[in-house]
Amino acid sequence: MNQAIDWNALLAAATAARDNAHAPYSRFHVGAALLCEDGRIFAGCNVENASYGLTICAERNAVFAAIAAGCKRFVALAVIGATDAPITPCAPITPCGACRQVLVEFAPAFAVRCYGTDGTHLDETTATLLPHAFDKQSLT
Ligand code: THU
Repeated sequence: MNQAIDWNALLAAATAARDNAHAPYSRFHVGAALLCEDGRIFAGCNVENASYGLTICAERNAVFAAIAAGCKRFVALAVIGATDAPITPCAPITPCGACRQVLVEFAPAFAVRCYGTDGTHLDETTATLLPHAFDKQSLT
């Protein structure tokens, strides 16, 4: 199903999630919003832990929220990150390697827009972010 992408709605959802990030250690707050084929939007923020390695990124939290609600067909993802207040304008951030691998699990290529707080953005896809990804077809 083809569907227009309302990037403003995704940016708003990602920014609202970012405002709820739990990032007392890095002080870097990230929000992500995932548009599914049925039109629903799922958001996630990064959640850090005193045991640092338990931290989970905003992108994976958005994906896992969608999966838990029964959505597996993704159309677009918006990501935005920023330092703790006072927010210093920063260039777009792109998903980490672990999140890229999780994203490609659900579609060969869907749109990923990475927003900076400097007013710029980068347009990528899961395929441009992770070329030559390990593919579940390899397991068959
Ligand atoms: N982080 C994300 O949530 N998404 C990214 O794409 C990159 C990094 C989080 C993890 C950690 O809580 C903080 O940002 C600093 O690395």
